[in-house]
Amino acid sequence: MNDWIRKLFVERSDLFLKLMNQRWCKTEELVNGMVKVLSSLGISSGNMLDLCCGNGRVSIHMAKKGFNVVGVDVSRAFLEDARRKAEENHVKGLVTFVEGDVRKLKRIVGSVSKPFDVIVNAWTSIGFYSQEDDLSVFKQARELSREGAILFITETMHTEYLSIKFAPTSYTELDDVVMLENRKFDPTNGRVNSSWIFYRKQGEDLKYIDRVEIEHHVYSLSELCSLLRKAGWEPMAHYGSLSTLQPMSPLTHMNIVAKAQ
Ligand SMILES: C[S@@+](CC[C@H](N)C(=O)[O-])C[C@H]1O[C@@H](n2cnc3c(N)ncnc32)[C@H](O)[C@@H]1O
Repeated sequence: MNDWIRKLFVERSDLFLKLMNQRWCKTEELVNGMVKVLSSLGISSGNMLDLCCGNGRVSIHMAKKGFNVVGVDVSRAFLEDARRKAEENHVKGLVTFVEGDVRKLKRIVGSVSKPFDVIVNAWTSIGFYSQEDDLSVFKQARELSREGAILFITETMHTEYLSIKFAPTSYTELDDVVMLENRKFDPTNGRVNSSWIFYRKQGEDLKYIDRVEIEHHVYSLSELCSLLRKAGWEPMAHYGSLSTLQPMSPLTHMNIVAKAQ
């Protein structure tokens, strides 16, 4: 695992959890859109695999819609939170959270799973490792899925957006924590380098907590579609939002729906 991945998602999982929890309130809309797309394709229940599931945001909402879900993530703290939330949401029997590295997907979920009907990769959970690793994860997901299964890549950053709306700095409030982000984007190779610096609010002051130096690859729509085809997934549609099914534009997120060939 890269150092920044270990630091952000494992050692400082307390800080990233605040960001993930902020997204919970938008997840029901996202999942309603996914369910609408699935039902138009004749899928209203079945087995779902959530790649890099975090604290179970998408997994738990899909279980509430009746899907049997396996979520995989490398962070024990996120999975413990996911199991707690599954219990609170009365879907404990419908979700299994597995700790492990998605790059070894077949080894970690192969023995506990039936063929999957739906695969999800949500909120820019690709590009953390090499492109060969991403290809291998989607190939393994294909091998674990039935023919005709549906893959959603959702709420994902893309190079078209960064080319037009690149913001070198941003400021985010997370309860009693403030996060400052400084970013660099290299359009020649799609690499984004960011410093995430966290401070605790103390009255009028900010007290430094920690910083994480992040480096990851951002895909363009065509680059990611080409990688998916190589992995056995045929892109069928792309949207700016799965909640509203609005078309994708350079100013929206990237959401791809693909079918197992
Ligand atoms: C941006 S978060 C998205 C979480 C979740 N998909 C969501 O939408 O809330 C990225 C997730 O990828 C997980 N992750 C990173 N590398 C991983 C790996 N090699 N195997 C499994 N999970 C990984 C992190 O722990 C984190 O939960």
